[in-house]
Amino acid sequence: MAQYTTDTQRTKYILDEADLPTQWYNIQADLKTPVPPVLHPGTGQPIGPQDLAPLFPMALIAQEVSQERWIDIPEEVRDVLRLWRPSPLYRARRLERALDTPARIYYKYEGVSPAGSHKPNTSVAQAYYNKLEGVTRLTTETGAGQWGSALAMACSFFGLECKVYMVKISYNQKPYRRVMMETWGAQVVASPSEDTQAGRTVLAQDPDSPGSLGMAISEAVEDAAQRGDTKYSLGSVLNHVLMHQTVIGLEAKKQLALAEDEADIVIGCAGGGSNFAGLSFPFAADKLQGLKPSLRIIAVEPTACPSLTKGKYVYDFGDTVGMTPLVKMHTLGHTFVPAPVHAGGLRYHGMAPLVCKLYDEGSIEAVAVPQLSTFQAALQFARTEGIPPAPESAHAVRVAIDEALRCKETGRAQTILFNLSGHGHFDLAAYEAYLTGRLRDEDYPEAKVAEALQTLPAIIV
Ligand SMILES: Cc1ncc(COP(=O)(O)O)c(C=O)c1O
Repeated sequence: MAQYTTDTQRTKYILDEADLPTQWYNIQADLKTPVPPVLHPGTGQPIGPQDLAPLFPMALIAQEVSQERWIDIPEEVRDVLRLWRPSPLYRARRLERALDTPARIYYKYEGVSPAGSHKPNTSVAQAYYNKLEGVTRLTTETGAGQWGSALAMACSFFGLECKVYMVKISYNQKPYRRVMMETWGAQVVASPSEDTQAGRTVLAQDPDSPGSLGMAISEAVEDAAQRGDTKYSLGSVLNHVLMHQTVIGLEAKKQLALAEDEADIVIGCAGGGSNFAGLSFPFAADKLQGLKPSLRIIAVEPTACPSLTKGKYVYDFGDTVGMTPLVKMHTLGHTFVPAPVHAGGLRYHGMAPLVCKLYDEGSIEAVAVPQLSTFQAALQFARTEGIPPAPESAHAVRVAIDEALRCKETGRAQTILFNLSGHGHFDLAAYEAYLTGRLRDEDYPEAKVAEALQTLPAIIV
């Protein structure tokens, strides 16, 4: 490992390929009490592996409930991850200077993956385990198109067919994401679509529906459940997905050690919770084990879809139509359709149960930020550090800047680490809308959330 400790100008902390983690970190091993069980929607009883078998391969079902702290990353998966991992950790010196802050700001950059975000960290593992168990076709949903791209790429590496239900608003806003998925061989349709019963039902009620992640999940699940050769792949929310993302935080810890620094504040944007968890869980381990009690960990969500800060911590469906098992999570109600903000990947009604558990216990914080100030932060970041962030990642940038400005006020030289989960090269229509003054803030839709919360499943636990 290189030694950078005396270099006061160092901008990038780069690990060798040999430093690519060999195991994922499973935070379930360190929870004080287990995460609430997933329930069968019909019986209200905890589900078993057989209930999930039509949708997921057994290896992933086993990871979902595993209590082992460390799980080996198969060599075939590491072999693909090595194409872009370890990813760089940057010290945002130019941003620090622009803010005139005593804080030290670091960001882990996941936009270096071929698909442009953190999502391939799990898509590669999921495609691998499906292939191993004889599956030949995967279905999924995608919001911003990042997850669909990641799965399309992983399927092409392992020779699997891939069908992507893409939320209609993103399908229209981001045509090049679709082309990217097709380049990797995937079939892409706008959701709600005519291809499934779930899609047809929604279209019958609202032919102009912009779609939502929950809706697209219903379609992808229905498709997979009906075919023997097909399984379903989810890009966030589930325990095993969050675990696959911990390579981010495990690498970042090594990189901060190279900088002889230690994080005081760890920040990630949160849609379903996977990039936030991927960066923060290896750091949360220190907090849960009492090694770093003062560590602050902040999840950032949009005010248009504030599941952690405004949602209820109850059992709800993961999808819109109500086909998935019930999970206990902070939810705005599975029928809630968020405003079509440009951070498409943050438009999910729920949140990962593991993230919700930590939030409920007070181990992590959450904050919601509006669209305009998020883009303002994205521009400040692009104009100092060079990278135009994905609109989702810009939520983390916003709060990192806010925390750095707070440090300026208090004079405290804290260390801030955030996840730059993806680049915004396919989001330039959103940037254009902001630059031409056409973007607006979406208020918290209190009445719509109240209405959606009326449709929560009747589960008494
Ligand atoms: C760049 C980027 N960041 C963040 C997210 C949000 O997902 P998650 O909360 O699972 O990381 C997405 C989702 O599409 C994304 O594309």
